[in-house]
Amino acid sequence: MARVALVTGGMGGLGEAVCIKLAALGYKVVTTYSPGNKKADSWLSQMKEQGYDFKAYPCDVSDYDSAQACIAQVQQEVGPIDVLVNNAGITRDMTFKKMDKPNWDAVMKTNLDSVFNMTKPVCDGMVERGWGRIINISSVNGQKGAFGQTNYSAAKAGMHGFSKALAYEVARKGVTVNTISPGYIGTKMVMDIPSEVLETKIIPQIPMGRLGKPEEVAGLVAYLSSEEAAFVTGANIAINGGQHMQ
Ligand code: CAA
Repeated sequence: MARVALVTGGMGGLGEAVCIKLAALGYKVVTTYSPGNKKADSWLSQMKEQGYDFKAYPCDVSDYDSAQACIAQVQQEVGPIDVLVNNAGITRDMTFKKMDKPNWDAVMKTNLDSVFNMTKPVCDGMVERGWGRIINISSVNGQKGAFGQTNYSAAKAGMHGFSKALAYEVARKGVTVNTISPGYIGTKMVMDIPSEVLETKIIPQIPMGRLGKPEEVAGLVAYLSSEEAAFVTGANIAINGGQHMQ
C-alpha cells in the first residue's frame, strides 16, 4: 500500500515541488494550507490538471489545537502518516533594533512551535508501526545567521536541535528525524528580498553564483523519505550552492 506523506505549507514554492516529487514516487500526498489561503481550491485544481490528486487540509501549524485536529482528520480520512515534512514557514525580516515582540513570536510560533505541534500527533504512531520519516526544512540561515533574521535564524537553528534530540529517542524504532538546510532557493520568500540586497549582498556569497531550484531540495526530501535513507538520522544536510563554505 502507498505510504502517506504529509507536507506542511505544500502550496508554496518549495512545498509544491516536494508534493510533486513524492507523488511521482508513489506516495499518497497530503498537504496543509493556512486557513486564510483563498487560493487553495485553485491550486488543487491546477495540480489536478497536471495529474496530481493531492488532498489538502486547512491547518494553522502554529496552533497546537488546530494541528491536532488536522492530523486526526487526515489519519481518519487518508490513513496513518508515514512521512512528515515540516516545511511551512514565514519570514518577518528586520534588524534587531526594529524587532518587536509580535514579529519575534510570529516567526517562533510558525517556524518552530509548528514542528512540535505537527510531530507530536504522528510520532507515536510511527514508532508503533516501526517505520517513519520526519524531515524538518530549516535554512542555511539557521546555521550561519543572517542580517535581519534574529527571529528566523533562532527558529531554524532550534529545528535542528529538535531533530537531533528526537532522532536519538526513536533511533531504534525505525523512525528517522533529519533536518534539511536549504540556502537561497528561487521561491517567493527569496524573491521578496529587496532586489538590491539580493544582488549585491546575497548572491555574491553563493559560490555557485545562482539561486537553488525547488526541485533540487525536493530530490533531497525524496531521498530522506526513502528506504535507502534508513541509516541517516539526526543529520542536518546543507543544500545551498556551497554557501556553507563561506
Ligand atoms: N549584510 C550586510 N549589511 C546589510 C545586509 C546584509 N545582508 N542587508 C542590509 N545591510 C545593510 C545595508 O547596506 C544598510 O547599510 P547602511 O546603513 O550602511 O547603508 C543597513 O544594513 C540597513 O539596510 P536597510 O536599509 O535594508 O534596512 P532596512 O531596515 O530597511 O531593512 C532588512 C533591513 C529587512 C534586513 C533588509 O535589508 C532585508 O530584507 N535583508 C534581507 C534579509 C534576508 O536575507 N532574508 C532572507 C529571506 S529568504 C529566507 O529566509 C529563505 C532562507 O531560508 C535562505
